[in-house]
Amino acid sequence: MTFEQWMRATLDRVETALEHYLPGTDIAPARLHEAMRYAVLGGGKRVRPLLVHAAGELTGAGSQAVEAASAALEMIHVYSLVHDDMPAMDDDTLRRGKPTVHIQYDEATALLVGDALQSQAFVALTAEGNGLNDSQQAALVRELAVASGSLSMAGGQAIDLESVGRKLSRPELETMHRKKTGALLRASVRMGALAGTHPGADALASLDQYAAAVGLAFQVVDDILDVTADSATLGKTAGKDAQHDKPTYVSIIGLDASCELVAQLGRDAHAVIQPFGARGQRLAELADLVVNRVN
Ligand code: IPE
Ligand code: IPE
Ligand code: MG
Ligand code: MG
Ligand code: MG
Repeated sequence: MTFEQWMRATLDRVETALEHYLPGTDIAPARLHEAMRYAVLGGGKRVRPLLVHAAGELTGAGSQAVEAASAALEMIHVYSLVHDDMPAMDDDTLRRGKPTVHIQYDEATALLVGDALQSQAFVALTAEGNGLNDSQQAALVRELAVASGSLSMAGGQAIDLESVGRKLSRPELETMHRKKTGALLRASVRMGALAGTHPGADALASLDQYAAAVGLAFQVVDDILDVTADSATLGKTAGKDAQHDKPTYVSIIGLDASCELVAQLGRDAHAVIQPFGARGQRLAELADLVVNRVN
């Protein structure tokens, strides 16, 4: 199967799983469920679910297990986007080519969409018949809870907000990026891997190093694209970081050095999964996708 064929098939499975784990609009409160589905379905690159699937395939995870894990990751990610776009945070009106949730609905609904998606992620991970055994469920819940909490994603978002207008040192910037974005990408790989046969501590450590490189690269590219791409391509408003005086890799080390760093992180990611050989092929291809992405 080519990478494109694998991507298409996997994206279909991700969409079906998300559809499965999101409450229908026939269930009350209908407007909240409609807004949750508006935020989640039919958009986004689905990079985190793709990483879950690739890592799960490497450890022989069952299809239901990776589907539950990837739906959980995407729901946490979308919750973070919905809140990130709210006036109290980045105050954005466009996301995935559509009005943001607080614009399309209202701010209270956007808050609740985020809250409910966060809970629903853990419902998916612990749902009966989701293909994960009890100890896998506990391990994945723990991974996702840690990766989204105050020591990781939410904490990174807090650092982002308190850093507006300040010139962060490069280590501070790296910490912020690893927390706000890297942690969920790392969790994607780890959770995918743990959904199958435990790969052993050494292999898991290699996968973790791969994911850390890809996770940091992902946010550096996000910073680059904010400067180099247009809103139509991004599906979100370009140029917002400079406008809000956000500390980014571009503002701190410049565009060329940022691009060079992304290329280096891509090489690092390839190097650490080399020992997996053909079993790591999808992960290698996904590293390239992250490094070369244009939106
Ligand atoms: C955007 O994430 C926010 C970041 C963490 C950089 P994505 O670029 O993955 O957004 P979607 O899911 O494709 O919309
Ligand atoms: C968002 O970072 C990170 C999270 C949502 C956790 P950004 O604020 O840079 O993401 P975009 O550019 O709005 O997608
Ligand atoms: Mg932000
Ligand atoms: Mg933002
Ligand atoms: Mg950004």
